[in-house]
Amino acid sequence: ILKILVALASGYLIGSLNTGVIVGKLYGKDIRDHGSKSAGLTNTLRVLGKTAAVFVLAGDILKGILACYIGLYMGVYAHSAGATDSLSLLAAGVGAVMGHNWPLYFGFKGGKGALTAVAVLFMFDWRMALVCLGLFAVIVAVTRYVSLGTLCAALLFVILSFAPFFDHSFYFTLFAVLMAGMIIFKHRENIKRLLSGTENKLSF
Ligand code: G3P
Repeated sequence: ILKILVALASGYLIGSLNTGVIVGKLYGKDIRDHGSKSAGLTNTLRVLGKTAAVFVLAGDILKGILACYIGLYMGVYAHSAGATDSLSLLAAGVGAVMGHNWPLYFGFKGGKGALTAVAVLFMFDWRMALVCLGLFAVIVAVTRYVSLGTLCAALLFVILSFAPFFDHSFYFTLFAVLMAGMIIFKHRENIKRLLSGTENKLSF
């Protein structure tokens, strides 16, 4: 259990390095005062443009990967229903998304965790990550609502975590529910805007 907690805490400390806030500061803006006020990739693209967005994309993916490696290094595995998963990797991944959403170094005000979550999922099960990313891409291409794509992908992630095809443990399902839960919770305002037809569409 100690190793799990260390993995979770390490993930949190790494995830707290919110690239959106850091890149925004380099541009002389606090991204959290503009656009949707979210410190994430979509809002960086919206407020600061493509170059800044590339840095945020790279940074938020890299921190997810780094957290996963630390989790793997902790080497705690769990078995259930014939499947074996790295519990410490899952804990580090949850920690990274918590850090991104509620960053220790930036007043606990961060982003919505989707990009970091997908980076973690790629490390854990790239096939499932591709399926979720595919649904996200189709929905965004058709509707131009990034938030709707993210929310649908998060729900699909939970559904797929039950699928025998991917062969994961009960702990993985728990992980999926936690990750999707955090993402959906952070999209509360987006959900209200989607329902009232006032959500921002992606445009260049
Ligand atoms: O992943 C974040 C995205 O789904 C929505 O971002 O800035 O439009 O609230 P935003």
